[in-house]
Amino acid sequence: MTDGYGDCIERVASINRSRDRQPLAFVRTFGCQMNAHDSEKLEETLLRMGYGKAPSEDCADLALINTCCVRENAENRVFGNLGKLKELKGKKPDMLVAVCGCMMQEDAAVERIKKSYRHVDVVFGTFNLDRFPELLLSRMESGRQIIDIWKGPREDRGIPSGSLATARHFAHKASLSVMFGCDNHCSYCIVPYVRGAERSRPPEGIMEEARALADSGAKEVMLLGQNVNSYGKGLNLSFAELLERVCEIGGIERIRFMTSHPKDLGDDLIQVMKAQPKIARHLHLPVQSGSSRILSLMNRRYTKESYLNLVEKIKSSMPDIALTTDFIVGFPGETEEDFADTLDLAERCRFQGAFTFLYSKRTGTPAAKMPNQVDPEVAGERFKRLLACVNGIQEEANARTVGKVLKVLVEEPNAKNPELMTGRGHGNELVHFKADKSLAGQFVDVRITESKIFYLMGEALT
Ligand code: SAH
Ligand code: SF4
Ligand code: F3S
Repeated sequence: MTDGYGDCIERVASINRSRDRQPLAFVRTFGCQMNAHDSEKLEETLLRMGYGKAPSEDCADLALINTCCVRENAENRVFGNLGKLKELKGKKPDMLVAVCGCMMQEDAAVERIKKSYRHVDVVFGTFNLDRFPELLLSRMESGRQIIDIWKGPREDRGIPSGSLATARHFAHKASLSVMFGCDNHCSYCIVPYVRGAERSRPPEGIMEEARALADSGAKEVMLLGQNVNSYGKGLNLSFAELLERVCEIGGIERIRFMTSHPKDLGDDLIQVMKAQPKIARHLHLPVQSGSSRILSLMNRRYTKESYLNLVEKIKSSMPDIALTTDFIVGFPGETEEDFADTLDLAERCRFQGAFTFLYSKRTGTPAAKMPNQVDPEVAGERFKRLLACVNGIQEEANARTVGKVLKVLVEEPNAKNPELMTGRGHGNELVHFKADKSLAGQFVDVRITESKIFYLMGEALT
């Protein structure tokens, strides 16, 4: 491809310019930060093709849904959304509907769209974001449903999706992919099948993008990958070394990253985090279960004991670290005893935040074929108990911040009370406080005055 991307963007833009008004597009995103970041790229592509931003699907001329399939309820929400769009398109036949993302990498989902969702105009996957303009143009010219799914990355041809330009919601913070895909094959997880094998981006491209972000006003960057701790295979560079390089960029004042896999988190990362004040004192370190037996069935490649030791080491090096995690409840074969280990681990680690998920069977993964799938009622009851436990711990952790001063990057006015501004502390704490709107994008010292389960209230000191 010479520059099919730019060429097709110009051709769609020219069609859009010839309309009697500027068409509007709406992007709905399901799933994780990687998907949200892909959506930022697709939003920029839409702007370049001449679309304005629609506030919702209802007034959009083009609706794009970026899908997730990590759990069944994410998929159900996508099909619910597609059903609504079918109705909407019944009233506005000229509306275009495009669907992309992880779920489109599953044959069954695409078959269902072909059969029951004929109103969908364009379908593409996670490996060919840069083809969106070309596919949209084909749809505009042919009037047919266009489906283009690749089974793996082909970054040697065309523009690698890692380098597509990105629209940002906030000028002061930005995400940056350092790697794509995943090789871990946790036995429950669909991600390696829909995002492909692990590929690390060479540091030159990452540094170039990070410098450009700093030049355009980004003070905080979030480095993204499914398992950043295994960054750099074949590149002679570790993730800790990459972080050190990013720390050298002037203008970037805070660096976050996610996700860390406990099996690959080495001492070098702890040392770099400790030494570099720019790196946020926050680690998202998904544990999934507190039972070593279940962890082995999950193919996580660590035990309860080694996870606890790792947490101990991290906390003794950085006593002010904020630790967050993910749990899966009801994995096949999980007994009451296994679950008790999970509660015990949660109690001991005292996470500042935890996402709790009910195990969801994903066709094609090894866990889907495992015996002793847990009765949904039993799993639901355990889920409630774990949620109460982690929420209690989070509330307690938040209460300990009252009276402390946090360095907060101010984001935007509070949606419910416009007198308040909202921002994030180093540990990713959500903080609301009275301040002028002009402070958006600035770092402000905030004294915490009150704590709730999921957020903090404070007063600005500057
Ligand atoms: N790469 C990251 C997270 C990927 S998905 C990691 O390894 O931690 C985000 C979270 O979704 C996972 O941490 C896990 O808790 C959850 N998840 C993944 N597959 C799931 C499944 N089949 N059922 C329930 N939760 C799942
Ligand atoms: Fe899924 Fe495991 Fe990879 Fe995370 S590390 S994306 S849970 S396979
Ligand atoms: Fe979902 Fe894909 Fe992320 S399956 S969790 S959007 S990588």
